[in-house]
Formats: sequence, structure tokens, C-alpha cells
Amino acid sequence: MSFVLAHLSDPHVPPLPVARLRDLAGKRLLGYLNWTRNRVSIHRRDLLDALVADLQAQHPDHIAVTGDVVNLGLDAEFAPSLQWLRGVGAPGDVTLIPGNHDAYVRGALERFCKTFDPYLRGDDDASGFPFLRRRGPVALVAVSSGVPTPPLMATGWLGGPQRDALDAMLAQLADEPVFRVLLIHHPLRSAQSHKRLTDAPQLLEILKHRGVELVLHGHDHVHATIHVDGPRGPIPVIGVPSASSIAHGHRPAAAYNLFAIDGGHGAWRCMQTVRGFGDGAAVSELERVRLV
Ligand SMILES: [Fe+2]
Ligand SMILES: [Fe+2]
Repeated sequence: MSFVLAHLSDPHVPPLPVARLRDLAGKRLLGYLNWTRNRVSIHRRDLLDALVADLQAQHPDHIAVTGDVVNLGLDAEFAPSLQWLRGVGAPGDVTLIPGNHDAYVRGALERFCKTFDPYLRGDDDASGFPFLRRRGPVALVAVSSGVPTPPLMATGWLGGPQRDALDAMLAQLADEPVFRVLLIHHPLRSAQSHKRLTDAPQLLEILKHRGVELVLHGHDHVHATIHVDGPRGPIPVIGVPSASSIAHGHRPAAAYNLFAIDGGHGAWRCMQTVRGFGDGAAVSELERVRLV
């Protein structure tokens, strides 16, 4: 029996509450205008709910949610977003990390971490990043790349202390018979400099030396598969579209991934199944790929 890890990302839980003018200083004002002009018709609650219902019907063993749960970090967004996440699953069954929208302005990330606290704790019950959760044969290593950025920027940053702690955590896991999955909001390579992970080169060095079996990310709202260097060969890095989005421009409609993991140390197998709306009105299987 394989262990099935589901991955969804960037729900941007709709609808965005009506904001008070005094909440909309600086970056939030631009974001609010962007939402009310564009995103309001792109991120749809009915799609998100249908996607989550389909995911739950697959009975995965665990669910990873890689950030951008809220949009502008407004006070009024947190309670409905927590209610949504509780509907996805219990804290022991769902691992969450923040995205840049969850750290939209100074103070938002603290609020995010407080609100979603039980979904953001490692097995040692400590708070902070990185944290480690073991589920079946899988070791989930969760980092935070969400930082407040200037208007029109959506970059991410792990920072030196988090990178050092990640390096130490991966060094400890290196000899264990576990399937290591790194959860990060930002992709590891980005063509758009205003959306990139600024310390990606340092993270790639860590992965090259320590290795993981799989990296899962969101942020770009597209299906993405690349490989990066690991100590024993290439590591698959998989991005998933927004869980609430209609197809628009080059971005596909809402989808999620299932990773069926079996085998053992040195002989892991991992099958990726993509489920989403595709061109249709209902969620269906879109693709099946043998990854590892
Ligand atoms: Fe996003
Ligand atoms: Fe993002």
C-alpha cells in the first residue's frame, strides 16, 4: 500500500471581505484594487469547494497546503480562511506553510502564524520554521519564504538562520529511511525577478549536498515540473496551480496533485496524479506521471 500525499496551493480563499478605507494604506490599496478589478472573477469559491471535495474523495493520507491562503492579510480574512482550512482537514492531517500573500504587510505573518498555529507545528510541538512532520514513510520539511515586500513585488526569502536550520535538519534526515518532501511557497527557479525566491541559489546548494526526494511549491499558479541537482541525482520540483482559479491567460484552471509513495530507502517510487478542472466543468484526472 502506498502512502498518498495530496498537494494544493494558493487558495486565496474567496471572497475577499469588503475592506474599510483605513485598512487600505500603501500596498494593500493596490492589492485591493487589483482584487476588485481582476482577481474577484478569477478566484472562485465554488471551484475551490469542488476541488477540495474531489481531493477528500480520494482519501489521501496527508494534505500539504503551500500558502497564499489569504490575500491582503486583512483582519477580516483570517476567520473565514481558518474555517475553510478546518473544512480541508484536522491539523494533524494537514500541513500548512505561508506564502507571500500571507505575509502581505508587516505584522500579517505573525497574525497568520497565530491563526493557523496547530497546522504549523512540527512533531516536537515547537513553532517556527523550518518544522518537521513525519507521516508514514514521509518526512515533511516545511519552510517559510513569505516576507513582506514593496508594492508590485512578490519575492520570497528564507534568510540565513532558516537556511542553517534547514541544512541541519536535512543533515539529520540524510541517513534515515524516509521520503523527504520539502514544502516551500516559492518556486526554486523563476523567470520573473519580481516573483523569485531571492536566496534560491543558497537553497539549491543545500539541496545539492543534503538532498530530498521531492520539492512541492505554489506561487506561480501553473503546473510546473523541473529537476534540480541532488547528491544522488536529480530532485523533482513540482508546482501546482491555484486551488480556486479559473483558467486565464497562461494560467490553467484549479488543480491539485496526489503523490503515491512506496518502496523504501534507495528504491523509492513516487507516482504523481494531477486532478483538476482542465477544460471541463468538473474535476477529473488530467495526467499521471512516474516521478521517482
Ligand atoms: Fe498565489
Ligand atoms: Fe504567492
